[in-house]
Amino acid sequence: MNAQGREPLAVFGAGWVGLVTAACFAELGHEVTVRDVVPEKVERLQNGEVPFFEPGLGELLERNRDRLTFTLDAADAAEAAELVFVCVDTPPTYSGDADLSRVWTVIDELPQLDRRSILVMKSTVPVGTGEKVRAALEARGLSHIGYVSNPEFLAEGTAIENFMNPDRVVVGAFLESDADRVTALYEPLGTTIVRADVASSEMIKLAANAFLTTKISFINEIANVCELVGADVVKVAQGVGLDHRMGPHFLRAGAGWGGSCFGKDVSALKQLAGNSGYQFQLLAAVIEVNELQKRRIVQKLQKHLGRLRGKRVALLGLAFKPNTDDMRDAPSLVLASRLLAEGANVRAYDPEARPGELLQGVALCDSTLEAVTGADAAVIVTEWNEFQTVATPEIRDAMRRPLIVDGRNLLDPEATRAVGFDYEGIGRAASPLSALPETPERELAD
Ligand SMILES: NC(=O)c1ccc[n+]([C@@H]2O[C@H](COP(=O)([O-])OP(=O)(O)OC[C@H]3O[C@@H](n4cnc5c(N)ncnc54)[C@H](O)[C@@H]3O)[C@@H](O)[C@H]2O)c1
Repeated sequence: MNAQGREPLAVFGAGWVGLVTAACFAELGHEVTVRDVVPEKVERLQNGEVPFFEPGLGELLERNRDRLTFTLDAADAAEAAELVFVCVDTPPTYSGDADLSRVWTVIDELPQLDRRSILVMKSTVPVGTGEKVRAALEARGLSHIGYVSNPEFLAEGTAIENFMNPDRVVVGAFLESDADRVTALYEPLGTTIVRADVASSEMIKLAANAFLTTKISFINEIANVCELVGADVVKVAQGVGLDHRMGPHFLRAGAGWGGSCFGKDVSALKQLAGNSGYQFQLLAAVIEVNELQKRRIVQKLQKHLGRLRGKRVALLGLAFKPNTDDMRDAPSLVLASRLLAEGANVRAYDPEARPGELLQGVALCDSTLEAVTGADAAVIVTEWNEFQTVATPEIRDAMRRPLIVDGRNLLDPEATRAVGFDYEGIGRAASPLSALPETPERELAD
């Protein structure tokens, strides 16, 4: 601990959670050593570059450069620290369980520390992981190392704000003294600290993501019924969400949830319940509704365009949400592959996401205008701000057919139709079908 009461920290994993944690704790005055296993990532960070897009992160890392060290060396990082934050990825396995192999690697890589350091788990892990880590530490002769579960709730795109102004911080520990040390780190944030046992802390994170996805799948099902009965889900969500017992958040109907966390965490909880002898039926439905929701966009296109073979479709947005370049489990991936399977000619534009090998067969464009030129339909897949102004005469005239399928209910239907577009949102009254022009497939070949 230094004269200002700051502890030297280590962060294992320089991804969204690790880098944001490191930058924010450095901002609070701590010396932080960040360790990753990918040499290019560490090299870029040492050179002052940020390996992914997260608003404000570059500036925060730059401002705190003197307090941040980046290394590939696990022993160096752990030896320098009083608290070691584990922020490695925990992707799903084929069974839906969380893959903890990277967490076990971190335990194996810890040097023989002689002081009482604390391992702080920020990665999302199944309930029971803390107990297993404790046993693994004991087996390595490191039983003097403490363990605290400290799940992370940040959302990509607003990660720094979420870290610095959290709704709460959860601290689950085996020993009160370990919980005290981790709690002290967060005291400058002036937020509510929920102290719990380790299992409950692990469950809080899984339950939180399960609840958020349940809200989204719920409003998506309401949207689908709205379409059949002539109601508008945007109005319905407003009227429901103003009730403080429900709240307005995560009641936005659309083309389904995605991202690196929701799918894997909901599957992990469903699988955890199943492994423990309980069938979590609600979560099975939440997942299924989401899978079907992503495919509804294709049905909407077919409704207007008939067979999609040879039709040109522009995807606006590829990232799983705006203000990030992250495409992990993005609905755009399912949509693009369904469209390609139907024989459509798919073009795509995203302000930040660069899919590389992820989107084979899709023509990537540098602007909305380039993507929609000659298109039979434009689909808003990600609600980037810049797509709010997409319904212009210039875009309409560039398209072969002025059809917008708004997978995020981003546009005003009346204003969009007034410009001359056919408009189809999610859970809102659709445009009447226009007569279909015959599309010669030759004309559309790239
Ligand atoms: N991304 C989010 O929005 C978010 C939010 C809350 C919680 N989480 C959870 O936090 C964890 C990390 O998520 P993320 O999105 O930051 O992942 P990420 O994939 O962006 O980053 C993980 C990093 O860990 C590194 N790594 C792997 N093994 C390592 C090791 N042995 N030592 C050091 N580094 C190692 C990887 O190279 C990678 O850079 C996951 O469990 C995730 O579920 C993520």
